Amino acid sequence: MTLSYTDIERVPRHVAIIMDGNGRWAKKRTWNRLRGHREGAESVDIITEAARVAGVEYLTLYAFSTENWSRPQDEVVGLWELLGDFLEKKKSKLITNRIRLHFIGHMEHLPEKTREKALRVKRETEANGWDMTLTLALSYGSRDELICATKAIAEKVRVGTLRSEQITDATITEHLSTVGLPDPDLIIRTSGELRISNFLLWQSAYAEYYFTDTLWPDFREPEFLEALRSYAGRTRRFGKTDEQLGG
Ligand code: IPE
Ligand code: IPE
Ligand code: MG
Repeated sequence: MTLSYTDIERVPRHVAIIMDGNGRWAKKRTWNRLRGHREGAESVDIITEAARVAGVEYLTLYAFSTENWSRPQDEVVGLWELLGDFLEKKKSKLITNRIRLHFIGHMEHLPEKTREKALRVKRETEANGWDMTLTLALSYGSRDELICATKAIAEKVRVGTLRSEQITDATITEHLSTVGLPDPDLIIRTSGELRISNFLLWQSAYAEYYFTDTLWPDFREPEFLEALRSYAGRTRRFGKTDEQLGG
């Protein structure tokens, strides 16, 4: 069955994706890993467009984890170059489509040229307002994010601007790098791995997960629609019973 966006009854407001499998996609073709990442960048473009057309307001893509720094140096360098080229190439399309570029993670750890380019493109996409937010998680790790939040909160308690009994769910949320973004409704992971790999641990407390064997460079519009359809068919109870939900 071919799916179309009008078949999707309930579109998630925030979709987050663990884009995995670029290396295996390239290896299957006896190509080097960077070719896999290049093809993966095409998927980023296609899925961003698909999400926009579907009415997703927030798309968050896990592009580089704090752990990915331990990959071979040439792969790390190649990934940052690819990111810079990609953002430059897609900038006008993002602006035309009113998509704001946003980042979470340790941007200060990126190579200076890539960081400057990324922040410049971000500013340009923000200048005239936006309908959708595309967040790239770069040098991002959720445990690290929680450590930073804990330190910031502890410091406020120390200097007396916050009392420990005032700490709530919202206090933690407001000290994370995702401040301002709603929690993800749907988290997709490609390539058959069934793990979270340090992604949005706090924010995903009530997210729906969708795992697929498809490798990220092969994850295109039909695969994305299938994930949206799976989400639309689920019941999110948030601890309640079906009867309470009127089901
Ligand atoms: C995901 O693909 C992209 C990044 C983590 C940057 P991988 O590079 O992890 O691909 P596999 O898992 O080796 O196939
Ligand atoms: C997770 O993919 C990180 C990103 C998609 C950026 P990895 O391929 O690095 O995850 P692990 O190491 O297999 O868990
Ligand atoms: Mg991987």
